[in-house]
Amino acid sequence: MKANLLAGALASVLPLTTAAPALPSSNGSSNADNLYVSTAPDTPQPYILPKMAGRAVAVGQQIYRFSVTGNASAGAFTLMQTNAPGSSELGVLPHIHKKHYENFYCTKGSFQLWAQSNTTTNATQQARVLTQGDYGAVPPETIHTFQITDPDTQLTGIISPGGFEELFIAIGDGDYTSSTGSEYVPAASNSSSSGAGSSSSLISALESFDVYAQLSFNPRRDLINGTAGGANTWHTASTPLAVDTSSPAFVAKGYGPKYLWRGDAGSGQYAVVAPLVTETQSGGNFTMGTITLSPRSANASFASTEKTSLPVHVALQVEEGEVVVEIDGFAGQARAIQGDVIFVPKDTAWSWWASRPFTKVLYVSGGVGGVEEKFLSQAESWNWITYPIA
Ligand SMILES: *[C@@H]1O[C@H](CO)[C@@H](O)[C@H](O)[C@H]1NC(C)=O
Ligand SMILES: *[C@@H]1O[C@H](CO)[C@@H](O)[C@H](O)[C@H]1NC(C)=O
Ligand SMILES: *[C@@H]1O[C@H](CO)[C@@H](O)[C@H](O)[C@H]1NC(C)=O
Ligand SMILES: *[C@@H]1O[C@H](CO)[C@@H](O)[C@H](O)[C@H]1NC(C)=O
Ligand SMILES: *[C@@H]1O[C@H](CO)[C@@H](O)[C@H](O)[C@H]1NC(C)=O
Ligand SMILES: *[C@@H]1O[C@H](CO)[C@@H](O)[C@H](O)[C@H]1NC(C)=O
Ligand SMILES: *[C@@H]1O[C@H](CO)[C@@H](O)[C@H](O)[C@H]1NC(C)=O
Ligand SMILES: *[C@@H]1O[C@H](CO)[C@@H](O)[C@H](O)[C@H]1NC(C)=O
Repeated sequence: MKANLLAGALASVLPLTTAAPALPSSNGSSNADNLYVSTAPDTPQPYILPKMAGRAVAVGQQIYRFSVTGNASAGAFTLMQTNAPGSSELGVLPHIHKKHYENFYCTKGSFQLWAQSNTTTNATQQARVLTQGDYGAVPPETIHTFQITDPDTQLTGIISPGGFEELFIAIGDGDYTSSTGSEYVPAASNSSSSGAGSSSSLISALESFDVYAQLSFNPRRDLINGTAGGANTWHTASTPLAVDTSSPAFVAKGYGPKYLWRGDAGSGQYAVVAPLVTETQSGGNFTMGTITLSPRSANASFASTEKTSLPVHVALQVEEGEVVVEIDGFAGQARAIQGDVIFVPKDTAWSWWASRPFTKVLYVSGGVGGVEEKFLSQAESWNWITYPIA
């Protein structure tokens, strides 16, 4: 039954039903209101996708929403969110990607993530419970699986290169729509609703999507204090990023490396950058992490409010507070709050700042020289998740 469903889905991907995004008007300037779109555009252009907007598909009880698609980022990366109730089963059977680097960021709730390198002989199988703000890196050639464990969970997925969402569209149960923006269907699970990712015959037929089933992988269940197979310091001690491009890694919220950028003396302008992936981990294909900003003060010249162009595509997913953006070609300012995603193509002049204290974004840059770079190039190593009090 699922196999027929897959064949059908592969043969004809469902048409988009949402309206096309507004393009800048031909006179070259458009109101910043036109940045707000209802679905990720088919080609790179500046946009803001509001929380819960965008194309979504159901895979069993899991709802996958696509904020930045391979099309919207010209193949640079996919940024998507998975909302689902807690489950007693794996969210997908264990598998490997040979080409895609997959990143798991817990925006809320909790899930377990298992990872084991398939390139190191007899590598240790690691497992972690991820709660809000925790991160797991799954480089290519890593056996991995996950399980959503709390009722109000959002797993934010970042996948490089972009385009991996086509898998979920193909194996899913069809487009998910909710006029109320409900996270998922509030109904009890049943045996046929655990999703295509839990069918061994189906997952074994997905190699054209860079999914290689690893059905003999037995996820360990011997976690203590949220961890198994790694250093016994999960959520208790600072953690380095992965040492290379092939090692899986886990970074608990606030325990990774942090850097403080100070604006002009006395300006009260600060950014705390917490990278999760740098050139060292991705080979320069993408970078990601979080940036926490103090609000722009009226009397400061804040370097990040001067419009600049970056050499790579950038996405910001707002996790806390409010971000204000000005983007060339769109007159005025636009605002984004928790759950909204801002996308700015490379070579586009733009600026952004926070209007609220402790505004935090998850950033994804499509290569080196991204949105974190101007802060990191003038930053000092910093031990705290917050910035100075004045
Ligand atoms: C350009 O077009 C936009 C949208 O139609 C309009 O709001 C704006 O006033 C125009 N600007 C100029 C300089 O004509
Ligand atoms: C990306 O673009 C291709 C070509 O236009 C289209 O077939 C595909 O459905 C698009 N994917 C998504 C997720 O919109
Ligand atoms: C995983 O590693 C084994 C042993 O080297 C190899 O035979 C297998 O092809 C690898 N799996 C994938 C999907 O690359
Ligand atoms: C890897 O594990 C297998 C099975 O436990 C064992 O037979 C083999 O000797 C190990 N290889 C290495 C290089 O440790
Ligand atoms: C079980 O789940 C399937 C797939 O989500 C759904 O179509 C079906 O209506 C559900 N059945 C019951 C009895 O809830
Ligand atoms: C688990 O955490 C508790 C409380 O912090 C601690 O006392 C205990 O030693 C930890 N267990 C291990 C195996 O680290
Ligand atoms: C702005 O300037 C005033 C006057 O110099 C100063 O008292 C205030 O602390 C400044 N605000 C910030 C946020 O730096
Ligand atoms: C970077 O991307 C290229 C092209 O997709 C790929 O061949 C290479 O393996 C990637 N590097 C890493 C470290 O993943």
